[in-house]
Amino acid sequence: MIRWGILGCGRIAGKFASDLKLAENAVLVACGARNEASADAFAKAFNIKNKHYSYEALVKDNEVDVIYIATPHSHHYEHTLLCINNGKAVLCEKAFAINYKQAKEMIDAAREKKVFLMEAVWTKFLPPFSRVKQMIGEGMIGDIKSLLVNFGFKAPPDAPQRLLDPALGGGTILDIGIYNVFAALFFLGKPDVITATAILTKDNTDAQCAVTFKYNDGKLAQLFSTFLSDCSTEADICGSNGRIRLTSRYYTPFATIEYYPGRMDTKQIIDIGKPEEGFGYQYEARHVGECLEKGLTESPVMPHADSLLLMETLDAIRKKAGIIYASD
Ligand SMILES: NC(=O)c1ccc[n+]([C@@H]2O[C@H](COP(=O)([O-])OP(=O)(O)OC[C@H]3O[C@@H](n4cnc5c(N)ncnc54)[C@H](OP(=O)(O)O)[C@@H]3O)[C@@H](O)[C@H]2O)c1
Repeated sequence: MIRWGILGCGRIAGKFASDLKLAENAVLVACGARNEASADAFAKAFNIKNKHYSYEALVKDNEVDVIYIATPHSHHYEHTLLCINNGKAVLCEKAFAINYKQAKEMIDAAREKKVFLMEAVWTKFLPPFSRVKQMIGEGMIGDIKSLLVNFGFKAPPDAPQRLLDPALGGGTILDIGIYNVFAALFFLGKPDVITATAILTKDNTDAQCAVTFKYNDGKLAQLFSTFLSDCSTEADICGSNGRIRLTSRYYTPFATIEYYPGRMDTKQIIDIGKPEEGFGYQYEARHVGECLEKGLTESPVMPHADSLLLMETLDAIRKKAGIIYASD
Protein backbone atom coordinates (compact mmCIF):
# COMPACT_ATOMS: atom_id res chain seq x y z
CA MET A 1 0.00 0.00 0.00
CA ILE A 2 1.20 3.49 -0.84
CA ARG A 3 0.91 5.79 2.18
CA TRP A 4 -0.50 9.22 1.34
CA GLY A 5 -0.33 12.57 3.09
CA ILE A 6 -2.39 15.63 2.13
CA LEU A 7 -0.89 19.11 2.31
CA GLY A 8 -3.56 21.83 2.73
CA CYS A 9 -6.98 20.79 3.99
CA GLY A 10 -9.34 22.79 1.75
CA ARG A 11 -12.16 21.86 -0.64
CA ILE A 12 -10.41 19.70 -3.23
CA ALA A 13 -8.38 18.03 -0.50
CA GLY A 14 -11.65 16.72 0.94
CA LYS A 15 -12.79 15.24 -2.38
CA PHE A 16 -9.39 13.67 -2.98
CA ALA A 17 -9.33 12.21 0.55
CA SER A 18 -12.74 10.69 -0.01
CA ASP A 19 -11.68 9.18 -3.36
CA LEU A 20 -8.43 7.74 -1.96
CA LYS A 21 -10.62 5.13 -0.24
CA LEU A 22 -11.52 3.88 -3.73
CA ALA A 23 -7.91 3.38 -4.85
CA GLU A 24 -6.97 -0.18 -3.90
CA ASN A 25 -3.25 0.60 -3.58
CA ALA A 26 -3.67 3.72 -1.38
CA VAL A 27 -4.03 4.49 2.29
CA LEU A 28 -4.37 8.01 3.67
CA VAL A 29 -2.19 8.22 6.79
CA ALA A 30 -1.51 11.94 7.33
CA CYS A 31 -2.67 15.48 6.72
CA GLY A 32 -1.01 18.83 7.32
CA ALA A 33 -2.58 22.26 7.69
CA ARG A 34 -1.49 25.76 8.57
CA ASN A 35 -3.42 25.64 11.81
CA GLU A 36 -4.72 23.17 14.36
CA ALA A 37 -8.41 23.71 13.68
CA SER A 38 -8.09 22.84 10.00
CA ALA A 39 -5.92 19.75 10.58
CA ASP A 40 -8.12 18.54 13.45
CA ALA A 41 -11.35 18.87 11.46
CA PHE A 42 -9.89 17.19 8.37
CA ALA A 43 -8.31 14.32 10.33
CA LYS A 44 -11.61 13.74 12.09
CA ALA A 45 -13.67 13.87 8.89
CA PHE A 46 -11.48 11.32 7.10
CA ASN A 47 -10.27 9.28 10.07
CA ILE A 48 -6.61 10.17 9.47
CA LYS A 49 -4.05 8.83 11.95
CA ASN A 50 -1.33 11.51 11.77
CA LYS A 51 -2.40 15.15 11.82
CA HIS A 52 0.19 17.89 11.59
CA TYR A 53 -0.16 21.54 12.50
CA SER A 54 2.31 22.73 9.87
CA TYR A 55 3.32 21.65 6.38
CA GLU A 56 6.91 21.37 7.62
CA ALA A 57 5.82 18.72 10.15
CA LEU A 58 3.90 16.78 7.49
CA VAL A 59 6.88 16.47 5.15
CA LYS A 60 8.96 15.03 8.00
CA ASP A 61 6.43 12.26 8.72
CA ASN A 62 8.27 8.96 8.17
CA GLU A 63 5.03 7.09 7.60
CA VAL A 64 4.24 9.08 4.43
CA ASP A 65 5.39 7.98 0.94
CA VAL A 66 3.68 10.58 -1.23
CA ILE A 67 2.08 13.97 -0.66
CA TYR A 68 -0.88 15.43 -2.51
CA ILE A 69 -0.51 19.23 -2.66
CA ALA A 70 -3.92 20.91 -2.49
CA THR A 71 -3.04 24.54 -1.80
CA PRO A 72 -3.74 27.49 -4.18
CA HIS A 73 -1.63 27.55 -7.38
CA SER A 74 0.44 30.43 -5.99
CA HIS A 75 1.87 28.05 -3.38
CA HIS A 76 2.52 24.94 -5.48
CA TYR A 77 6.12 25.94 -6.21
CA GLU A 78 7.01 26.50 -2.56
CA HIS A 79 5.15 23.43 -1.28
CA THR A 80 6.46 21.10 -3.98
CA LEU A 81 10.03 22.13 -3.21
CA LEU A 82 9.35 21.62 0.50
CA CYS A 83 8.22 18.04 -0.17
CA ILE A 84 10.98 17.22 -2.63
CA ASN A 85 13.71 18.59 -0.38
CA ASN A 86 12.42 16.25 2.31
CA GLY A 87 12.42 13.26 -0.03
CA LYS A 88 8.65 13.00 -0.44
CA ALA A 89 7.05 12.03 -3.73
CA VAL A 90 4.53 14.61 -4.95
CA LEU A 91 1.21 14.76 -6.75
CA CYS A 92 0.65 18.51 -7.20
CA GLU A 93 -2.71 20.03 -8.13
CA LYS A 94 -3.17 22.07 -11.28
CA ALA A 95 -2.16 24.71 -12.19
CA PHE A 96 1.20 23.08 -11.52
CA ALA A 97 2.81 26.50 -10.92
CA ILE A 98 2.28 30.18 -11.75
CA ASN A 99 4.65 30.10 -14.69
CA TYR A 100 7.09 28.00 -16.72
CA LYS A 101 10.10 29.15 -14.69
CA GLN A 102 8.63 27.80 -11.46
CA ALA A 103 7.54 24.55 -13.11
CA LYS A 104 11.02 23.99 -14.55
CA GLU A 105 12.64 24.51 -11.16
CA MET A 106 10.21 22.08 -9.53
CA ILE A 107 10.97 19.43 -12.13
CA ASP A 108 14.72 20.04 -11.99
CA ALA A 109 14.62 19.63 -8.20
CA ALA A 110 12.64 16.37 -8.44
CA ARG A 111 15.06 14.98 -11.02
CA GLU A 112 18.08 15.98 -8.99
CA LYS A 113 16.71 14.34 -5.83
CA LYS A 114 15.28 11.38 -7.82
CA VAL A 115 11.86 11.95 -6.32
CA PHE A 116 8.55 11.26 -8.09
CA LEU A 117 6.66 14.37 -9.22
CA MET A 118 3.44 14.60 -11.24
CA GLU A 119 0.90 17.32 -11.98
CA ALA A 120 -2.62 16.27 -10.97
CA VAL A 121 -4.26 16.60 -14.40
CA TRP A 122 -6.92 14.08 -13.39
CA THR A 123 -8.77 14.39 -16.73
CA LYS A 124 -5.96 12.57 -18.50
CA PHE A 125 -6.72 9.44 -16.45
CA LEU A 126 -10.47 9.43 -17.02
CA PRO A 127 -12.29 7.10 -19.45
CA PRO A 128 -14.04 9.79 -21.60
CA PHE A 129 -10.81 11.50 -22.66
CA SER A 130 -8.97 8.22 -23.33
CA ARG A 131 -11.87 6.89 -25.40
CA VAL A 132 -12.13 10.06 -27.50
CA LYS A 133 -8.41 9.97 -28.19
CA GLN A 134 -8.81 6.35 -29.29
CA MET A 135 -11.75 7.25 -31.55
CA ILE A 136 -9.70 9.98 -33.21
CA GLY A 137 -6.78 7.58 -33.63
CA GLU A 138 -9.11 5.08 -35.31
CA GLY A 139 -10.08 7.75 -37.85
CA MET A 140 -13.73 7.91 -36.75
CA ILE A 141 -13.99 11.65 -37.56
CA GLY A 142 -11.33 11.80 -40.27
CA ASP A 143 -8.74 14.58 -39.93
CA ILE A 144 -9.40 17.00 -37.07
CA LYS A 145 -10.20 20.47 -38.34
CA SER A 146 -11.27 22.28 -35.18
CA LEU A 147 -11.79 22.09 -31.43
CA LEU A 148 -14.38 24.28 -29.72
CA VAL A 149 -14.34 24.21 -25.95
CA ASN A 150 -15.91 26.31 -23.20
CA PHE A 151 -15.63 26.24 -19.42
CA GLY A 152 -17.54 28.82 -17.44
CA PHE A 153 -19.76 29.63 -14.52
CA LYS A 154 -20.97 32.73 -12.76
CA ALA A 155 -18.83 33.01 -9.64
CA PRO A 156 -21.15 33.41 -6.64
CA PRO A 157 -20.66 36.35 -4.26
CA ASP A 158 -19.21 33.97 -1.67
CA ALA A 159 -16.78 32.38 -4.17
CA PRO A 160 -13.48 31.22 -2.68
CA GLN A 161 -10.95 34.03 -2.40
CA ARG A 162 -8.43 32.16 -4.53
CA LEU A 163 -10.64 32.40 -7.66
CA LEU A 164 -9.89 36.08 -8.27
CA ASP A 165 -7.11 37.04 -5.84
CA PRO A 166 -3.93 37.72 -7.86
CA ALA A 167 -1.80 36.80 -4.86
CA LEU A 168 -3.27 33.29 -5.05
CA GLY A 169 -2.92 32.98 -8.84
CA GLY A 170 -6.58 33.92 -9.37
CA GLY A 171 -8.36 34.30 -12.71
CA THR A 172 -10.02 31.87 -15.09
CA ILE A 173 -6.99 30.95 -17.14
CA LEU A 174 -5.01 29.07 -14.47
CA ASP A 175 -8.10 27.75 -12.73
CA ILE A 176 -10.49 26.51 -15.42
CA GLY A 177 -9.09 27.74 -18.74
CA ILE A 178 -6.23 25.34 -18.09
CA TYR A 179 -8.59 22.43 -18.85
CA ASN A 180 -9.41 23.93 -22.26
CA VAL A 181 -5.72 24.41 -22.99
CA PHE A 182 -4.97 20.88 -21.84
CA ALA A 183 -7.72 19.51 -24.11
CA ALA A 184 -6.29 21.34 -27.14
CA LEU A 185 -2.76 20.10 -26.43
CA PHE A 186 -4.05 16.57 -25.81
CA PHE A 187 -6.14 16.29 -28.98
CA LEU A 188 -4.32 18.66 -31.38
CA GLY A 189 -0.78 19.10 -30.04
CA LYS A 190 1.34 22.23 -29.70
CA PRO A 191 -0.09 25.21 -31.63
CA ASP A 192 1.94 27.24 -34.10
CA VAL A 193 0.21 30.56 -33.36
CA ILE A 194 -1.57 31.65 -30.16
CA THR A 195 -3.89 34.63 -29.82
CA ALA A 196 -5.67 35.59 -26.63
CA THR A 197 -7.70 38.40 -25.16
CA ALA A 198 -9.18 38.81 -21.69
CA ILE A 199 -11.54 40.91 -19.63
CA LEU A 200 -9.42 41.87 -16.66
CA THR A 201 -10.61 42.65 -13.14
CA LYS A 202 -9.36 45.74 -11.31
CA ASP A 203 -6.68 43.47 -9.80
CA ASN A 204 -5.50 42.36 -13.25
CA THR A 205 -6.70 38.79 -13.04
CA ASP A 206 -8.90 37.60 -15.90
CA ALA A 207 -12.65 37.41 -15.38
CA GLN A 208 -12.96 35.84 -18.80
CA CYS A 209 -10.54 34.86 -21.50
CA ALA A 210 -10.83 33.91 -25.17
CA VAL A 211 -7.98 32.02 -26.80
CA THR A 212 -7.33 30.70 -30.28
CA PHE A 213 -4.72 28.19 -31.37
CA LYS A 214 -3.76 28.05 -35.03
CA TYR A 215 -1.96 25.07 -36.54
CA ASN A 216 0.01 25.32 -39.76
CA ASP A 217 -1.72 22.22 -41.10
CA GLY A 218 -5.08 24.00 -41.06
CA LYS A 219 -6.55 23.23 -37.63
CA LEU A 220 -8.01 25.86 -35.30
CA ALA A 221 -8.96 25.63 -31.62
CA GLN A 222 -11.23 28.12 -29.89
CA LEU A 223 -11.03 28.08 -26.08
CA PHE A 224 -13.22 30.16 -23.79
CA SER A 225 -13.28 30.45 -19.99
CA THR A 226 -15.35 32.73 -17.77
CA PHE A 227 -16.35 33.49 -14.19
CA LEU A 228 -18.99 36.00 -15.35
CA SER A 229 -21.78 33.78 -16.66
CA ASP A 230 -22.89 30.19 -16.76
CA CYS A 231 -21.90 28.71 -20.08
CA SER A 232 -21.76 25.21 -21.47
CA THR A 233 -18.76 23.29 -20.29
CA GLU A 234 -18.53 21.08 -23.35
CA ALA A 235 -16.00 20.22 -26.01
CA ASP A 236 -16.62 19.64 -29.73
CA ILE A 237 -13.95 18.01 -31.83
CA CYS A 238 -14.80 18.43 -35.49
CA GLY A 239 -13.21 16.42 -38.27
CA SER A 240 -13.32 16.07 -42.03
CA ASN A 241 -15.68 13.13 -41.61
CA GLY A 242 -17.65 13.58 -38.39
CA ARG A 243 -17.77 15.19 -34.97
CA ILE A 244 -17.38 14.13 -31.36
CA ARG A 245 -18.93 16.04 -28.49
CA LEU A 246 -17.96 15.62 -24.86
CA THR A 247 -20.96 16.87 -22.92
CA SER A 248 -20.92 18.89 -19.71
CA ARG A 249 -18.71 18.67 -17.72
CA TYR A 250 -16.36 17.54 -20.43
CA TYR A 251 -13.28 17.21 -18.20
CA THR A 252 -14.87 14.89 -15.63
CA PRO A 253 -15.65 11.15 -15.55
CA PHE A 254 -19.34 12.02 -15.98
CA ALA A 255 -19.08 13.43 -19.52
CA THR A 256 -21.01 11.59 -22.22
CA ILE A 257 -19.41 11.00 -25.61
CA GLU A 258 -21.73 11.92 -28.47
CA TYR A 259 -20.62 10.81 -31.92
CA TYR A 260 -21.94 12.33 -35.13
CA PRO A 261 -20.51 10.23 -37.97
CA GLY A 262 -20.01 11.58 -41.47
CA ARG A 263 -22.25 14.53 -42.24
CA MET A 264 -25.10 13.09 -40.22
CA ASP A 265 -26.99 14.99 -37.54
CA THR A 266 -27.95 11.71 -35.93
CA LYS A 267 -26.02 11.21 -32.77
CA GLN A 268 -24.73 7.98 -31.37
CA ILE A 269 -23.83 7.66 -27.72
CA ILE A 270 -20.54 5.85 -27.21
CA ASP A 271 -20.78 3.35 -24.39
CA ILE A 272 -17.84 3.63 -22.02
CA GLY A 273 -19.57 1.95 -19.11
CA LYS A 274 -20.64 3.57 -15.89
CA PRO A 275 -18.14 5.85 -14.15
CA GLU A 276 -16.78 4.48 -10.90
CA GLU A 277 -18.35 5.81 -7.73
CA GLY A 278 -16.72 8.87 -6.16
CA PHE A 279 -15.61 12.16 -7.71
CA GLY A 280 -13.05 10.63 -10.07
CA TYR A 281 -9.76 11.48 -8.36
CA GLN A 282 -9.03 7.81 -7.57
CA TYR A 283 -7.93 7.17 -11.18
CA GLU A 284 -4.90 9.49 -10.90
CA ALA A 285 -4.18 8.38 -7.32
CA ARG A 286 -4.14 4.73 -8.39
CA HIS A 287 -1.74 5.61 -11.22
CA VAL A 288 0.64 7.45 -8.88
CA GLY A 289 0.64 4.38 -6.60
CA GLU A 290 1.52 2.15 -9.55
CA CYS A 291 4.37 4.46 -10.57
CA LEU A 292 5.76 4.40 -7.04
CA GLU A 293 5.44 0.61 -6.82
CA LYS A 294 7.58 0.44 -10.00
CA GLY A 295 10.14 2.88 -8.58
CA LEU A 296 9.42 5.51 -11.27
CA THR A 297 10.22 9.17 -10.69
CA GLU A 298 8.06 10.38 -13.57
CA SER A 299 4.67 9.28 -14.86
CA PRO A 300 4.58 7.83 -18.38
CA VAL A 301 1.00 9.11 -18.73
CA MET A 302 1.49 12.67 -17.41
CA PRO A 303 5.24 13.20 -17.94
CA HIS A 304 7.18 16.32 -16.96
CA ALA A 305 7.34 17.42 -20.60
CA ASP A 306 3.54 17.68 -20.69
CA SER A 307 3.47 19.90 -17.60
CA LEU A 308 6.18 22.11 -19.09
CA LEU A 309 4.33 22.44 -22.40
CA LEU A 310 1.10 23.25 -20.58
CA MET A 311 2.83 25.90 -18.48
CA GLU A 312 4.71 27.37 -21.46
CA THR A 313 1.43 27.64 -23.37
CA LEU A 314 -0.34 29.27 -20.41
CA ASP A 315 2.53 31.77 -20.15
CA ALA A 316 2.13 32.62 -23.85
CA ILE A 317 -1.64 33.09 -23.45
CA ARG A 318 -1.19 35.33 -20.42
CA LYS A 319 1.39 37.43 -22.23
CA LYS A 320 -1.01 38.03 -25.14
CA ALA A 321 -3.94 38.76 -22.82
CA GLY A 322 -2.02 40.96 -20.33
CA ILE A 323 -2.48 38.71 -17.30
CA ILE A 324 0.52 39.24 -15.04
CA TYR A 325 1.30 37.84 -11.58
CA ALA A 326 3.87 39.12 -9.11
CA SER A 327 6.03 36.03 -9.53
CA ASP A 328 6.35 36.68 -13.29
N1 LIG B 1 -8.47 18.80 -9.98
C1 LIG B 1 -9.59 19.44 -9.72
O1 LIG B 1 -10.68 19.03 -10.13
C2 LIG B 1 -9.55 20.66 -8.87
C3 LIG B 1 -10.74 21.20 -8.37
C4 LIG B 1 -10.67 22.30 -7.52
C5 LIG B 1 -9.44 22.85 -7.23
N2 LIG B 1 -8.30 22.35 -7.77
C6 LIG B 1 -6.99 22.94 -7.46
O2 LIG B 1 -6.66 22.65 -6.11
C7 LIG B 1 -6.02 23.76 -5.51
C8 LIG B 1 -6.79 24.14 -4.24
O3 LIG B 1 -8.11 24.47 -4.58
P1 LIG B 1 -9.29 24.46 -3.49
O4 LIG B 1 -10.52 24.78 -4.23
O5 LIG B 1 -9.24 23.23 -2.68
O6 LIG B 1 -8.88 25.71 -2.60
P2 LIG B 1 -9.29 26.03 -1.10
O7 LIG B 1 -10.57 25.36 -0.74
O8 LIG B 1 -9.15 27.50 -0.94
O9 LIG B 1 -8.18 25.29 -0.23
C9 LIG B 1 -6.82 25.59 -0.35
C10 LIG B 1 -6.15 25.22 0.97
O10 LIG B 1 -4.79 25.59 0.83
C11 LIG B 1 -4.27 25.96 2.09
N3 LIG B 1 -3.55 27.23 1.95
C12 LIG B 1 -2.23 27.41 2.14
N4 LIG B 1 -1.88 28.67 1.94
C13 LIG B 1 -2.99 29.34 1.63
C14 LIG B 1 -3.26 30.71 1.36
N5 LIG B 1 -2.31 31.64 1.36
N6 LIG B 1 -4.53 31.06 1.11
C15 LIG B 1 -5.51 30.13 1.09
N7 LIG B 1 -5.31 28.81 1.36
C16 LIG B 1 -4.06 28.43 1.63
C17 LIG B 1 -5.44 26.02 3.07
O11 LIG B 1 -5.39 24.81 3.83
P3 LIG B 1 -5.02 24.72 5.39
O12 LIG B 1 -5.52 25.98 6.01
O13 LIG B 1 -5.74 23.51 5.80
O14 LIG B 1 -3.55 24.61 5.47
C18 LIG B 1 -6.66 25.99 2.18
O15 LIG B 1 -7.75 25.38 2.78
C19 LIG B 1 -5.96 24.86 -6.57
O16 LIG B 1 -4.70 24.89 -7.16
C20 LIG B 1 -7.02 24.44 -7.60
O17 LIG B 1 -6.70 24.81 -8.93
C21 LIG B 1 -8.35 21.25 -8.57
